[in-house]
Amino acid sequence: MRERTDGRGFATRAIHAGERPDPVTRAHKPPIYATSTFAFDTAAEKEDSVDRALAWEPGVHFYSRTSNPTNRALEEKVASIEGAEDAVVSSSGMAAVSATLLAHLGGGDHVVVGDELFVITQVLLGDDFPRRGIDVTAVDMTDLEAVEAAITPATKVLFYETSTNPRLRVPDQDALAAIGHRHGLIVIADNTFLGPALVRPLEHGADMVLHAATKYLSGHGDAVSGVVSGAKALLDPIRKQTDTLGQAASPFSSWLVMRGIRTLPLRSRTASANALELAEYLERQPNVEWVRYPGLPSHPDHETARRLIDGPGGAMLTFQPRGGVDGMAAFTDHLRLCDIGVSLGDIHTLVYPQPKRGGLVRVSVGCEDVDDLLEDFALGLSFVA
Ligand SMILES: Cc1ncc(COP(=O)(O)O)c(C=O)c1O
Repeated sequence: MRERTDGRGFATRAIHAGERPDPVTRAHKPPIYATSTFAFDTAAEKEDSVDRALAWEPGVHFYSRTSNPTNRALEEKVASIEGAEDAVVSSSGMAAVSATLLAHLGGGDHVVVGDELFVITQVLLGDDFPRRGIDVTAVDMTDLEAVEAAITPATKVLFYETSTNPRLRVPDQDALAAIGHRHGLIVIADNTFLGPALVRPLEHGADMVLHAATKYLSGHGDAVSGVVSGAKALLDPIRKQTDTLGQAASPFSSWLVMRGIRTLPLRSRTASANALELAEYLERQPNVEWVRYPGLPSHPDHETARRLIDGPGGAMLTFQPRGGVDGMAAFTDHLRLCDIGVSLGDIHTLVYPQPKRGGLVRVSVGCEDVDDLLEDFALGLSFVA
């Protein structure tokens, strides 16, 4: 890590960490190292590099599935902003979830997880883990007594999301870490829905934090990527697992994510402010049945969110237009600015209608002019009875 980022503020580290002018060309921005393999001057040099790379020593490059300089630069940037010793990037958020859990769980182990996890994480835990002999118990992470009661002598890991999908429940991270550590567990947070500009779970006791870097870290909806951060001793087996499962990050995606992180604090601030305005607006509308936004006093975890989350409460909100599925479609299908799309954390506002959940609408609020978003939402709601 460059000395000039040590001890600096979050925004400074988001911009500078992991970046150095290219030593050969002096290019100011880090290049995309589009290479599968690396060449050596001598057989002895090759032997030394291969031995170290296959002991999964970070930053030793001999083959890009195992390590690549662009991927390493992103790892250094993420470790710096998370306040972590190290980080491991991978091909997607699901690669980060699966490699992290599989590196630390085996047959006969038990894991306690949140009961409203990202749907593909649920598929992994529900379909794949039983085949591997790993037991899973899902509990409401805001019910601390239920969390503690779910822990058994076989439990190795406590895994939660910092804000859940779609109810946006915000668990008390400090309390979860205290419970987990009292029982000797590894505490892992998926912070995809908030991002490190708004909360850093390692500062609240988690042992590791992971992200779909696809979302807020990239911020522009143009890359698929995952990353996990924490102590090197916990990450070493994940680095190896990422390699053996073939989950290597693409250097191009890592370069895009690195570019995104430089503006993460700016985007998080703007999107959060927009989300609060939209949530307050929606709560005032007679044809909106309810609004869920952690920054509203009406949210069940408002006090926890105020304590943990920087700014008003993140940039995700969920609401229910009147009229169930018909009301939902009337709203989403008449928007002119906001697109219907599944992802989140994009600088563009995305709405995600969920007919199987009664017609609620999840909104990933972007960084547009808030007046334009308000106008678009007013247009959509004008078609709701
Ligand atoms: C909370 C959470 N974790 C993990 C993932 C998986 O990320 P990816 O789509 O990059 O595999 C997602 C994707 O939406 C997510 O919302």
